[in-house]
Amino acid sequence: MDKIIVTGGGALSGEIPIAGAKNACLALMPATLLSEEPLTLTNAPRLSDINTMTELLRSLGCEATRLQDGQVLAMSSHNLESHVAEYDIVRKMRASNLVLGPLLARLGRAVVSLPGGCAIGARPMDIHIHGLEAMGAEIELKDGYLHAKAPPGGLRGAVYEMGFASVGATENIVMAATLARGTTVLKNAAREPEIVDLCTCLRAMGAEIEGDGSSEITIEGVDRLHGATHPVVIDRIELGTYMLAPAIAGGEVECIGGRLDLVAAFAEKLDAAGVSVEETERGVRVRRGGGRLSAVDVTTAPYPGFPTDLQAQMMAMLCTAEGTSVLEERIFENRFMHAPELMRMGADIEVHGGTATVRGVERLRGAPVMATDLRASVSLILAGLAAEGETVVSRVYHLDRGYEHLERKLGAVGAKIERVKG
Ligand code: UD1
Repeated sequence: MDKIIVTGGGALSGEIPIAGAKNACLALMPATLLSEEPLTLTNAPRLSDINTMTELLRSLGCEATRLQDGQVLAMSSHNLESHVAEYDIVRKMRASNLVLGPLLARLGRAVVSLPGGCAIGARPMDIHIHGLEAMGAEIELKDGYLHAKAPPGGLRGAVYEMGFASVGATENIVMAATLARGTTVLKNAAREPEIVDLCTCLRAMGAEIEGDGSSEITIEGVDRLHGATHPVVIDRIELGTYMLAPAIAGGEVECIGGRLDLVAAFAEKLDAAGVSVEETERGVRVRRGGGRLSAVDVTTAPYPGFPTDLQAQMMAMLCTAEGTSVLEERIFENRFMHAPELMRMGADIEVHGGTATVRGVERLRGAPVMATDLRASVSLILAGLAAEGETVVSRVYHLDRGYEHLERKLGAVGAKIERVKG
């Protein structure tokens, strides 16, 4: 298995281009199932998770082709052959469950394996299920698969309030509602930019949706959706990750295509720690001068709060800040697996349930560490950028799920980073 070796020390300088958002793209791709006409996505990221979704869509009978160096995804579902999302594909990635709503809306039935994905908590699907049931679907769990059936005449619009603003459940319910009869009002909906991006694309396909970006989304069902071409929004998590690279290693990096409005809560914390962040014409510039950063407390929350997907990377920065930082993880119950790995590098961290207390040390030291999930892996790479000596990160296949050309992008701003094939 491949490893990544990072040699710490040395400030960074230059530009890093930000790709299209993985999480937006993973929701946009199943939208193709809603229409017989082609859906084309531009600015698609080149990631293994996107390949997994492509494989899943193909297994259902969609045509899905990558063009122009992989950044354009041309899809067509004029000839859907199957309504079954098999375990062998779904287990690789939780976002596979996003085919449930569209299949149910278009074909009136869906059989979808319960997902696997990152090992960061139980991640059940009860909210997805209850939302679709409110629209008249009958859903039962048999042999690890959800068997879902729409009522005669198709799904019906409904008023449904989600118990928690789940991102995936919002996406599934909104997609299903675009083709339902009547009006659906989704209350306590998730407000993430990826949901706004999905709704923008669905509107381009002819859907009638209002209120996305707020916690109440209203969808007026239509008879059919048509084709569209849609550019995927930039990846705010990739942006935040690369903003942390100069914040940790020192120097100045401009993240090209970055949008500060998408990472406001995160940027505020960087600022409070002593990192300079500014919007430029081309993106976001981050600079760190000499001296130590200050500790800050962080609590993860649904958007527009501090993203759980940047918690591990933020912890990597706080390991060497002056003072004690308290990080509270409120979205997933088991998302501190990077903490023991950072401790192998000399960090002083204590974890109790959903709270991690980080006492800043002067410096981390390189060590062999193991990636446990996507964001945890990249936090170890970031920590390695400023650590003394060599950090060897194994199990890097997690990284390839979410960061395209990571070594190339960090290498281009002066990081000493290489991938060793194994
Ligand atoms: C999405 C993102 C993921 C991010 C997460 C939270 C994608 C592909 N992934 O995941 O990167 O970390 O949002 O911002 O977009 N829950 C339930 N029942 C449900 C659904 C969720 O209890 O039916 C719980 C989960 O266990 C978790 C929390 O709600 O504790 C958040 O999950 P959710 O918002 O659904 O995240 P995902 O859509 O899976």
